[in-house]
Amino acid sequence: MGKEDLFSIISTWDFGKKANKFAAEVLREGGSPLDAIEKGINVIEEDPEVMSVGYGGLPNEEGYLQLDAAIMSGPLHKAGAVAALEEIVNPISVARKIMEKTKHVLLAGEGALEFALRNGFQKRNLLTDKAKREWLKQKEKKIETHDTIGMILLDSEKNVYAGCSTSGISRKMPGRVGDSCIIGAGLYVDNEIGGAAATGMGEKIMMFCGSFFIVENMRRGMSPQKACEEVIKRMISKGEKEWVGFIALNKQGEYGAASLGKEFPYAIFSGKEETVKKSRFFKRREND
Ligand code: GLY
Repeated sequence: MGKEDLFSIISTWDFGKKANKFAAEVLREGGSPLDAIEKGINVIEEDPEVMSVGYGGLPNEEGYLQLDAAIMSGPLHKAGAVAALEEIVNPISVARKIMEKTKHVLLAGEGALEFALRNGFQKRNLLTDKAKREWLKQKEKKIETHDTIGMILLDSEKNVYAGCSTSGISRKMPGRVGDSCIIGAGLYVDNEIGGAAATGMGEKIMMFCGSFFIVENMRRGMSPQKACEEVIKRMISKGEKEWVGFIALNKQGEYGAASLGKEFPYAIFSGKEETVKKSRFFKRREND
């Protein structure tokens, strides 16, 4: 096994497989771990078939897209994030620029867009015809959907990085911001311990500082699997019923995933395996 294979990448959902593969290619071609996270997530942001992230994502209740994303570097213990960013295909790339070029962590709305345009990003209409049709269908049936791409990467030097990107809950209120741009909720990394990332109902993830909670559980000696399960159990103990899911990866390359209500697929890519697995899920408390 070459040095280039001594890394592990874990991402949420089936589309995580494509993102992992791309991220691994970036590393093998000599790119940095942050390049790998950014470019791996860019592939999903640019895919019109993924209707919950970037271009082709589902719009808010007024019919336009507002995107959230964040990126975090373990060795630097720094992060960058954007909230409610409009008309930019790659919010994760804007988040990285915020981390690297400013003293801030999170830029929102118009300020985030102005920053992106000043830094060479181009405006683009993010709403595809397919997404518009699906939005109309969901509007009629009063359905909401959300599937964030979250990625955690352990490199060959045993440094940890994470990123996430989403168009958020479909038909959300304009200005609504979810967990994916909130450090400690949608993602968190501690370079001595590992990282975690979330998908699902952002409001609930934020209320439990979900990703931070998982990393702190791992600090106390739990495996990534147990650390994810504990946050789900805490949520259930408070009567939560909305769907949420978490992935985690520690410094040893061990990983885990858990969710509330139903399972979700997550993708692993390492020198040892390249596969999609299902999270362990816990049933809601039905009689509250
Ligand atoms: N987890 C994505 C969101 O709630 O916006």
